[in-house]
Amino acid sequence: MTGPRPGEPVPAAPGTPPWWRTAVVYQLYPRSFADASGDGIGDLEGIRAHLDHLSWLGVDALWLSPIYPSPMADAGYDVSDHRDVDPVFGDLETFDRLVAEVHARGMRLMLDWVPNHTSDQHPWFLDSRSSRDSPRRSWYLWRDGTPDAPPNNWLAQFTGGPAWTWDERTGQWYLHLFLPEQPDLDWSEPAVREAMHEVLRFWLRRGVDGFRADVVHLIGKDPALPDHPPELVGTNIVHSHDLPVTHELLRGIRAVLDEFPGDRAMVGEVNLRSPALVAPYHGAGDELHLAFNFLPMLGPWDADFWRSAISETLAALTAVGAWPTWVLSNHDNPRHRTRYGGSEQRARAAAVLLLTLPGTPFLYAGEELGLEDAAVAPEQQVDPGGRDGCRAPVPWTPDPGHGWPTEPWLPFPPAAAARSAAAQRADPTSVLALYRRLLAARRRSPALHRGSWTAVPAPDGVLAYERRAEGDRRVVAVNFRDAPADLLLTESTTVEVASTGRGEGTAWSGTLQGSEGVVLIPTPT
Ligand code: NOJ
Repeated sequence: MTGPRPGEPVPAAPGTPPWWRTAVVYQLYPRSFADASGDGIGDLEGIRAHLDHLSWLGVDALWLSPIYPSPMADAGYDVSDHRDVDPVFGDLETFDRLVAEVHARGMRLMLDWVPNHTSDQHPWFLDSRSSRDSPRRSWYLWRDGTPDAPPNNWLAQFTGGPAWTWDERTGQWYLHLFLPEQPDLDWSEPAVREAMHEVLRFWLRRGVDGFRADVVHLIGKDPALPDHPPELVGTNIVHSHDLPVTHELLRGIRAVLDEFPGDRAMVGEVNLRSPALVAPYHGAGDELHLAFNFLPMLGPWDADFWRSAISETLAALTAVGAWPTWVLSNHDNPRHRTRYGGSEQRARAAAVLLLTLPGTPFLYAGEELGLEDAAVAPEQQVDPGGRDGCRAPVPWTPDPGHGWPTEPWLPFPPAAAARSAAAQRADPTSVLALYRRLLAARRRSPALHRGSWTAVPAPDGVLAYERRAEGDRRVVAVNFRDAPADLLLTESTTVEVASTGRGEGTAWSGTLQGSEGVVLIPTPT
């Protein structure tokens, strides 16, 4: 697919955009954010205690990874009660207080909603499993067979074994695309749809502004559950993960959000890796509001790769009138600083890129501190998917406890004292200070938070573009190489933000340092 070329602008967001088009969303992994109860696991009161950090930083919305009761086989993505808070995180009262305090600071709150599967300890599944005659048998995907031959060749994520578990008592297999402790719901069952819609209403009534919908592309299933082509077994991108029926289900889900006032929004995890495959999940403005764009997160730190990923994304999404999203790090992948070789300069330049692209950026807690993944010794590992490193606790203070009352559930990331929030708040040259300047620059510039995007010719290894809205303009340039590069612009500009802090507020020299990103304000003529 060819994307916009230099001189071909991507249109600005029309009219007064809804909050989810102009927001910067900050993902919190509650277990690792901040611990108020002293059990070594982060909790809602811990989050509440650090809301000032988040509003000082300047993010607009928070997304919490799951906080529901769960046996934690998959760190809360195995929900055993959708309408409560796990005691490790707090309770509904604490939650209500958190919503109120987030709103009082002018921020929004999104929850993680896990529609594809539940915990095997969820009362729905316990009931379903109890007998073939259970009224909830049809809520999950049970199939006949013999104990030695699973019904198809699908593999489960994290175990690599069959996506089926044999239930001795009732003599059938149940489907689980993830762990055996995460049986898949059958969304073709009307009672499942209604029950999961009610879960949304429960939280929408409590005031949440929206949801991040976990692997939402998987909820539509072909009832025949056909084999995957042998060459695609174990991959994410298979035809049976991208079915027309899912769009019908998404329209039903969207209708529930639309019952509520106030621009409630859903960002979907549609893990199909390709913008062209993800774009249809926005429907005709009647399915997902936003969908994650994982393509750039999975690629190298390379100008050509990014140029084509941006073009591909913008071409696919603008064709259907959808608004892009950008993400560099989350709880499932190594942090971008780690992926980019540990270089602080690259992580800083990546922040310039992330926060100046057209679309809604998602930050992952701790990236504003320039954190790298923790080294987690085998005996400390918790996650069956090997994702502990990026889930390490956030260091708040330079002292050995780093603001955690007791030893946390995972080790701290490297250089935790120097990279702690308190140490960096006191240092105007820190990564944290850079994120804050970038967020402020983004907020005060219509061009940056909702303007059009046009690529600007640049030398090899450099990506440059212009953002423009209502007479407001910015030029952004990012040097992906470690050597300096000259960028000839046809106008004079002033440095608004530099990833290195170099020359801010002064005329731009025309040279980027190695691994430097800059936001430039054209001088009015
Ligand atoms: C995607 C989530 O991001 C991941 O953490 C989880 O393990 C799977 N979905 C299963 O819910």
